[in-house]
Amino acid sequence: MSKIVIVKLGGAAITNKKSICEFAPESELSALLDQVAIAYEILKGAGHQLILVHGAGSFGHPQAVKYNLKSGWSSIRDRTYSLKGYAHIRSCLQILSQRIVSELERRDVPALTMSPIDYTETINCEETPTGEFLAMAARATRYLSLGFVPVLHGDAVLDQIRGCTILSGDIIMYQLTRLLPEVRRCVFITDVCGIYKCDPKVNAENNELIQHIKVGNIVEEELTNQQNDKMTVADVTGGMQGKVKWAKRMVSHSQHSLDAVICRWGTDDALDIMTLKAKLAPNARMTIFTKDSNLLNR
Ligand code: ATP
Ligand code: IPE
Repeated sequence: MSKIVIVKLGGAAITNKKSICEFAPESELSALLDQVAIAYEILKGAGHQLILVHGAGSFGHPQAVKYNLKSGWSSIRDRTYSLKGYAHIRSCLQILSQRIVSELERRDVPALTMSPIDYTETINCEETPTGEFLAMAARATRYLSLGFVPVLHGDAVLDQIRGCTILSGDIIMYQLTRLLPEVRRCVFITDVCGIYKCDPKVNAENNELIQHIKVGNIVEEELTNQQNDKMTVADVTGGMQGKVKWAKRMVSHSQHSLDAVICRWGTDDALDIMTLKAKLAPNARMTIFTKDSNLLNR
């Protein structure tokens, strides 16, 4: 049976999140996208399909903070500044998305951008009902049926309550898993190997990678207790904690055997997990979210 894998290229992997509108170093971006192209070929060869979602990183978070775009403009009388900011962030996001799809196209991946702003209008950001994502899912399905790779991204979208808001790529993934039962794995590619007991960039020693989060398990609460104000870069969509929340939801709400994995760009483990490889390396370094106690097939 044909399965769909959704891969999220996190803003931390494709951009320099400490800067403004700066891509990740050329060699890193190249290594990541080479790997995505290989994953696409392997999945296609096995009769499976790939959807890509990318984050915004330095092309979205600092701009969203500066113009207060997550809470939107509904309560603001003079919207001149908000409108200017909204036009600005959309233009930054288009630059990022265009670079990603053109790099993929150069690697023979038939990638087609799908900007969420064109497919949905949210209703109070993350509270938006799944039905509002039907048009997005239908278009993604159509592209997949033709052999394309849909490329969605975290976006600044119109919101029926707030005026506008910031829709995270993680929520897009979650909503696609609700609407497309063929989705069996969601992979979050970022710049660290997974979830640690505490931020590995703040505390490199006495730290530990959490390899398995059984959904509903107490382990995830430990991270939730971590202070958000320790974030070293602007992230209006919740950073690693947001990812944990949505990964947990997608696994827990799935009627099928769906797993979610957080791993680091460029590693062999990342390629294995993106391509649904039957057996992972025994020492594979990543965080896997599953509903049952099995740590996949290790
Ligand atoms: P997203 O789209 O979900 O935001 P992203 O790839 O941009 O994806 P970040 O949100 O920046 O990723 O999250 C990754 C960062 O989270 C890492 O660079 C790391 O420094 C930080 N981080 C904070 N707490 C932890 C933790 N407990 N374990 C691992 N990383 C953590
Ligand atoms: C953020 O999307 C979208 C904007 C800030 C416009 P994500 O939450 O998916 O992006 P990253 O991965 O954290 O950069």
